[in-house]
Amino acid sequence: MGRYRDASGMKTIFSGLAASLTLLMAATTQAQDTDARADALVKQMTQAEKLQLVFGFYATPSKKDYMPPAEVISHSAGFVPGIARLNIPNQWQTDAGLGVASHRTMEQPRLRTALPSGIATAATWNPEIALAGGQMIGNEARLSGFNVMLSGGANLLREPRNGRNFEYAGEDPYLAGIMAGTTIKGIQSNHIVATTKHFALNDQETNRHGISADITENDARQTDLLAFQIAIETGQPGSVMCSYNRVNGTYACENDWLLNTVLKSDWGYKGYVMSDWGAVHSTIPAALNGLDQESGYFFDASPYFGDAMKEAVADGHISEARLDDMARRIVRSLAADGVLDDPVKGDRGAEIDYKAHANVTQADAEQAIVLLKNTAGLLPLKAKRIAVIGGHADVGVLSGGGSSQVYPYGAPANGRILPNEGPNDFPGPMVWYPSSPLKALAAHSRARVTYADGKDLKAAVRAARGADVVVVFATQWTGEQIDVTSLNLPGDQDALITAVARANPKTVVVLETGGPVVMPWIGHAAAVLEAWYPGTSGGEAIARVLTGEVNPSGHLPATFPVSEAQLPRPKLDGSAEDQQARVDVDYRIEGSAVGYKWFDKKGIKPLFPFGYGLSYTTFKLSGLKAQAVDGTVHATATVTNSGARAGMAVAQIYVSGDGWEAPKRLGGWAKVALKPGESKTVEVTVDPRLLSTADGKAWVLKGGDYKVILASSAADPIATTTVHLDGRTLDAAGH
Ligand code: BGC
Repeated sequence: MGRYRDASGMKTIFSGLAASLTLLMAATTQAQDTDARADALVKQMTQAEKLQLVFGFYATPSKKDYMPPAEVISHSAGFVPGIARLNIPNQWQTDAGLGVASHRTMEQPRLRTALPSGIATAATWNPEIALAGGQMIGNEARLSGFNVMLSGGANLLREPRNGRNFEYAGEDPYLAGIMAGTTIKGIQSNHIVATTKHFALNDQETNRHGISADITENDARQTDLLAFQIAIETGQPGSVMCSYNRVNGTYACENDWLLNTVLKSDWGYKGYVMSDWGAVHSTIPAALNGLDQESGYFFDASPYFGDAMKEAVADGHISEARLDDMARRIVRSLAADGVLDDPVKGDRGAEIDYKAHANVTQADAEQAIVLLKNTAGLLPLKAKRIAVIGGHADVGVLSGGGSSQVYPYGAPANGRILPNEGPNDFPGPMVWYPSSPLKALAAHSRARVTYADGKDLKAAVRAARGADVVVVFATQWTGEQIDVTSLNLPGDQDALITAVARANPKTVVVLETGGPVVMPWIGHAAAVLEAWYPGTSGGEAIARVLTGEVNPSGHLPATFPVSEAQLPRPKLDGSAEDQQARVDVDYRIEGSAVGYKWFDKKGIKPLFPFGYGLSYTTFKLSGLKAQAVDGTVHATATVTNSGARAGMAVAQIYVSGDGWEAPKRLGGWAKVALKPGESKTVEVTVDPRLLSTADGKAWVLKGGDYKVILASSAADPIATTTVHLDGRTLDAAGH
């Protein structure tokens, strides 16, 4: 990440250094106090109390005759009983990353504010947006009575067909780590625990309970694990959720290398590892290999951390010391995050400031929308007659399905504004948010706006012919537990877009998708906006971008391929038939060359590259200078708004070294707001791990010349310079 400076920039940096030193010392003292407090609490606990802390319940009644404990918050994710005599509160756990979810069997779900999808927030390339979003959803969680939010998705987008890409933050470990980590920081500012997940390499949903992600340890450390490492350093989440899949043959929730070696020892993580719901397969291996809390029982085949744990401790298979460690880690996070000192006070949903929160989610969506194509300046719209077609744009915007499902504030009591068009069972239903792009467009423009639902191709073509400009809304619903079978838009939407664009070349396509899609119609459409799942104020945000009230500034956090044939796995591994079946997915094919690195390495031209995004103004990137400072690359450049509208630019710095997995890696970026004619200097200091290769827990930075590239996307370099760095070996944290 970068920052920009004014005339007093250098002064800011030096006083900043002194301030960080003071902060660091204060943080160290605080950490020691928290350790001591956790130790003291564990000393006072009986064995039964410790056992109680390591075992969590699902908090939603199930069809299979499961009734949760009475104190749960209805239809939420989980519950762990507290220890009242020690003032340790119950842990009330809520999903998830985009806001306060309700589990699906509820007839009257909680209606809350939803952020745009995680990949959308990553597309803002703006940590301030991530922070504000985290603060907002954390506030709603707290006021809904929850003190643990299962939020902080940091799985890398290795697989564009992954049904959960919408919950994560894209394909680059540094971008994903910073954006997810900053969201976590925002959530925890509400004195609740956040949980980064799903640790690790949980990169496709097909066979998610049985799959093995096979990869060399160093490649994992340079990619998927680095994203988590940076998220943890940035956000200090109280908890890490281990995932369903196996990593190199061993289940993530009983994987000694992943949990004990990498997370707890190499990274020095002091919080607790909770399992994903149904990800535990044993008592002794899980406890010894690093799992601290079994979550969401009844999802596991057996209550492994219940009576079986007690027996294993009695028999000496699990030491008392390990049980103490598990309990200590849990109460340590409750203390560190403020859960003990500032306990939640039940359901105060009535106090939520939905109006203010709508502004937060809208601001996120507005910076997340990516302008992919804009022939002859068709956008912003100037037309008098606009035909809007498809995507239920007359009523709302789409959201992604599964445990993260937020039911929208502003909907009827059952949370639905449209009948379900998705699966009846999990991860359905398909939920639409009541923020209509059509209505917002009509309100924000003087044009005459008409609507056709797109189901009747002939009617759509007629509507297109009768308008100056056509705006087609195309949607791709994705959800947990299922991957998309193809990157094409579902149903007849590709044909609809082609037909409409043939009838009227002034066609704008607005995409609401979970992640990358292919665009066989791209040659016909004059303009394309990627709006992702834009959250509960998404329709307003889309309209403001279409009309030019907002100048788009989103950039792709993932490569959009021309076709699936360009991917490391043209065909998705596994089969949806048996989720538990063991399938080996060979991530050694691309190793750490994930996303744009794969395309670079193979010399393949994607449809739209990582980092790409247009604006209604033009920016000039110039004056790249780079030097070695404290053994790493420090780059500066000038960004000028050379057009006639205010806007925000994302200046990207890539670095390139010998013997890497791919020609270049993202080293950092800066997002800057510029008035017409204005210039700003941006600075980027590259995390030295991004200049190194992983060697076990260490990072080896080879001595030599490194290329530093100033670019507006992974495929649009603007200037290159060279910096010489001396060789050195860094510790796990990059020092
Ligand atoms: C998901 C997690 C979620 C948990 C609790 C699981 O199915 O993978 O992301 O937090 O359920 O609902």
